[in-house]
Amino acid sequence: MTATIDWENLGFDYIKTPYRFLATYKDGAWDDGVLTEDNVLHISESSPALHYGQQCFEGLKAYRRKDGRINLFRADENSKRLNKSASRLRMPDVPQELFLKAVTDVVKANEEFVPPYGTGATLYLRPLLIGVGDIIGVKPAKEFIFTVFCMPVGPYFKGGLVPTNFIVSDYDRAAPNGTGAAKTGGNYAASMLPGEEAHKQNFSDCIYLDPETHTKIEEVGSANFFGITADNRFITPKSPSILPSITKYSLLYLASERLGLDAIEGDIYIDHLDEFVEAGACGTAAVISPIGGIQTKDDFHVFYSETEVGPVTKSLYDELVGIQFGDKPAPEGWII
Ligand code: COI
Repeated sequence: MTATIDWENLGFDYIKTPYRFLATYKDGAWDDGVLTEDNVLHISESSPALHYGQQCFEGLKAYRRKDGRINLFRADENSKRLNKSASRLRMPDVPQELFLKAVTDVVKANEEFVPPYGTGATLYLRPLLIGVGDIIGVKPAKEFIFTVFCMPVGPYFKGGLVPTNFIVSDYDRAAPNGTGAAKTGGNYAASMLPGEEAHKQNFSDCIYLDPETHTKIEEVGSANFFGITADNRFITPKSPSILPSITKYSLLYLASERLGLDAIEGDIYIDHLDEFVEAGACGTAAVISPIGGIQTKDDFHVFYSETEVGPVTKSLYDELVGIQFGDKPAPEGWII
């Protein structure tokens, strides 16, 4: 069977692919896991994942190279982050060996759904860990399911490398000592209303400020933020309540090592957007999405342009995506 998909025009939408990986944790141990064709989970109605949000997930991609082979990008970092989220939510670690077996098995089993080189599309993998079983009090599950499924995707924000606009939200996404750094569903559920309000006003998504002072940028919808200053600094927010994006840490490295920028995590004040000549959103799904402008309470601030990507953002994109698709040399250990 060969997948018949319009690779060039994919959005970021669910498509059922033939195989997924499913492992179960019972009596204190994981089983070996299997590939299955069933995309429906049969779980207790009282599963803590359903009522109390005891769940976390990951997002990573498989990339078709020019030579036809397939790259996974920094999958070990996704494994580590999943386990950090799991520990915050009182769930067991998924051993890295099991995680890597799951993602590689799923890619191989669904190989025909890895988009062709040159289309810009990728195979998005969604590892998911949930607490299941018959529990009604607010306490951790004793049984867990770890699953990985996948689908081919195009750009997360419309247009890919075309700038889009964002609006500062009055809502907070997560609290400083809360679960903002964990990749858990509750953070994303909390972002749906603000996101929808932004869409209604024709913005791509909203910008969240730090919940304590509402003066500093924290996140861009479900992606991280970065800004480029005129004196060649790459700055991305440092905060305990944002998701530690693997793309962001990769960009910090590439900005410094490959583009010679001064790359730091620091404060980005919403009243000081003039410092930045370019800005963008970054993440596995978003890749790098240039930010055209940001609507604050009393100003619409345009960075480089509302229609064209800035030169530094473009260079960062080319480095990152070049490595992911195997066209540029990768730092050691980044590619499987
Ligand atoms: C990702 O970048 O992989 C995400 O998880 C963002 C979003 C689709 C939840």
